[in-house]
Amino acid sequence: MAKTSAPVSKDVPLVGQITRYLRDGAPAKIRRAIKEADKDDILDTSYPYREEIKKSDYEARMEALQIELVKMLRDLIDTGKRLVVLFEGRDAAGKGGTIEVMRENLNPRSAYIVALPKPTEREAGQWYFQRYTDWLPAAGEIALFDRSWYNRGVVEKVFGFSTEEQRQLFFRQLPDFERLLVEDGVILVKLWLDVGQAEQLKRFLDREGDPLKQWKLSWIDVEGLAKWDDYSNAIRETLDMSHTPAAPWTVIRSDDKRRARIAAIQTVLGAIDYAGKDKDAIGSIDPRIVGGPATLT
Ligand code: ADP
Ligand code: AMP
Ligand code: MLT
Repeated sequence: MAKTSAPVSKDVPLVGQITRYLRDGAPAKIRRAIKEADKDDILDTSYPYREEIKKSDYEARMEALQIELVKMLRDLIDTGKRLVVLFEGRDAAGKGGTIEVMRENLNPRSAYIVALPKPTEREAGQWYFQRYTDWLPAAGEIALFDRSWYNRGVVEKVFGFSTEEQRQLFFRQLPDFERLLVEDGVILVKLWLDVGQAEQLKRFLDREGDPLKQWKLSWIDVEGLAKWDDYSNAIRETLDMSHTPAAPWTVIRSDDKRRARIAAIQTVLGAIDYAGKDKDAIGSIDPRIVGGPATLT
């Protein structure tokens, strides 16, 4: 049975908690990085670029990539292929925004987002993978998973939502589960968006201050702030256990959101053959921010 973690103080409002953490809880180094940065600076000093790419460059490249995505979906429908893209990463890594640009010009009937809530009591009593299989694509469909079965490896570990026994069973079944999908012809792309600690906190602060983004904040995000290292351990272990020949990870350093979105789409397009594929429009993937699990910071 799942053990329960320490209760979350839900009697205080969520908005304000991030600012409070910046003031009272954040490591001094992180606080300083945020305070001293200019608007477009990349906060993580180990990131290979000091600034975001220019908006005009980003927009030009994104348009070319979105045209390729449209062609790719056309072909996927014509040939009956099935595509699954998993978007994983810490809170505020940029999963939601990347999914949005990927889906923006695609028919929602064919390219849909799967963002499941926490399991219901009934689901918690099923085979762990069961509720996810409901959402796998049929011929001509693209399923974009905003979080996925990898919850069991990471957030459930950090918050104690499942037992160690359940987690070990998950790791044992995982390679077979993914291999079965791939063997059946599903094109499976697993993207891990990696974000630095200061950048994550900065994004949470933006969300807290923006009525259009506050909905993205949850108690998990707030409680998770003090669990950075627990997350790091759970993430490393999960990627090690699940980077298989049939279903490898692509890790994308996402401190620059724009570069990350470009790299994510390039990776998806690179995984599929389609009529009219224009390699020049796709461009080459930036090896300074994209790689396997070793790319994780
Ligand atoms: P998100 O970052 O996806 O907007 P949260 O940060 O609130 O959402 O939660 C992270 C993930 O943890 C979600 O996929 C959510 O379903 C999952 N989660 C939250 N509570 C539980 C729980 N009690 N048991 C299992 N998973 C949970
Ligand atoms: P809420 O803000 O109430 O929607 O909570 C966000 C998510 O965190 C929900 O899915 C809660 O069920 C979950 N959550 C937070 N703390 C715990 C906990 N201690 N045990 C189980 N679930 C929790
Ligand atoms: C995002 O930036 O959209 C996130 O990765 C979603 C989240 O906050 O968990």
